[in-house]
Amino acid sequence: MQIASNIIHNGGLVAFPTETVYGLGGNALMKESILKIYKAKGRPSDNPLIVHVCDETMLKPLVTGIPPKAKLLMEAFCPGPLTLILQKTCLIPDEITNFKQTVGIRIPSDKTALNFIRTANVPIAAPSANLSGKPSPTSYLHVKEDLFGRIDGIIKDEDSKFGLESTIIDMTTNTPTLLRPGSITIEMIEKVIGEIEISPYIINNTFVEDDTAPIAPGMKYKHYSPDAPITIFEGSPQNVITHINNLVKNSDLKIGILTNDEYSNYFDKENYFVLSLGNNKEEYGKNLFKCLREFNSLDVDVIYSFYFDEKDIGLALMNRLKKAAAFNIVNL
Ligand code: TXA
Ligand code: MG
Repeated sequence: MQIASNIIHNGGLVAFPTETVYGLGGNALMKESILKIYKAKGRPSDNPLIVHVCDETMLKPLVTGIPPKAKLLMEAFCPGPLTLILQKTCLIPDEITNFKQTVGIRIPSDKTALNFIRTANVPIAAPSANLSGKPSPTSYLHVKEDLFGRIDGIIKDEDSKFGLESTIIDMTTNTPTLLRPGSITIEMIEKVIGEIEISPYIINNTFVEDDTAPIAPGMKYKHYSPDAPITIFEGSPQNVITHINNLVKNSDLKIGILTNDEYSNYFDKENYFVLSLGNNKEEYGKNLFKCLREFNSLDVDVIYSFYFDEKDIGLALMNRLKKAAAFNIVNL
């Protein structure tokens, strides 16, 4: 921790575990560190970074205030996999927010992450620690795969508990607006602060097409993609199983199938690469990015996926999977 903290104070970059995905951390108060983060990730500079703090004391100087509903959400879910968009003060460099007056703030619950931020004793700007466009890293090995030689260190720890990035909610709009679904679900949030708005990009399943800076997370850029194209089949499990088996029979391609424990038994594993997300939605979330990366190592030509239900954290799972598939969804 002391070594990691020294790197941060010298303007370097350290990847660290969180309960969602691994983050690529730099000193949020140093402009040079921020520029290094964008460079190491190959990330477009108009996609703002989240600032990680260890407690409310570290948070307070960074924002103009904490609105009452934001306070309620913090009491309920922080530390945890939730990012709040708040009005920033001038302590936050414009490079973090792409000159927006708002900043995303998160208090992670992962013990190692908290220990790291506490030891460094400065707010840590951190996007997910993957190369831009690749699936987010849920293991230190994923970070190494993408960023070895491009950053100054990795704090090695267990695989990420949730495996999907934090829920992001904009608290600066009249009615709070969900910008990215995550493990803190809409239902959980509405129980605490009443009805919220859902960004149309989540509902309509589209990327932002225009040239304006992304108003919301991952809405403009292609995300999470494995090398092979993904097709998601929506329909009854029986139809999907039959359809994929037929496709596979008539193909010379190296085929990957993304399914769950229950349906994986219906595929002949001798002929194709069947990866299971697990046997409940928590496991699906934890394993999604890992499976997408595994398809890369298996070097498959195409990936066929089931459509999983979008209730509760299923919304976050399908949000990431649909983006990885560039919204290539076939109704059966
Ligand atoms: O779980 C997480 O949130 C992980 C871990 C490391 O904390 N971090 C993460 O960061 O997913 P990143 O950079 O991959 O995604 C952050 C998203 C970006 O897509 C960005 O558009 C959005 O947050 N964002 C950041 N600041 C924003 C702001 N002021 N307004 C709207 N969106 C913002
Ligand atoms: Mg990311």
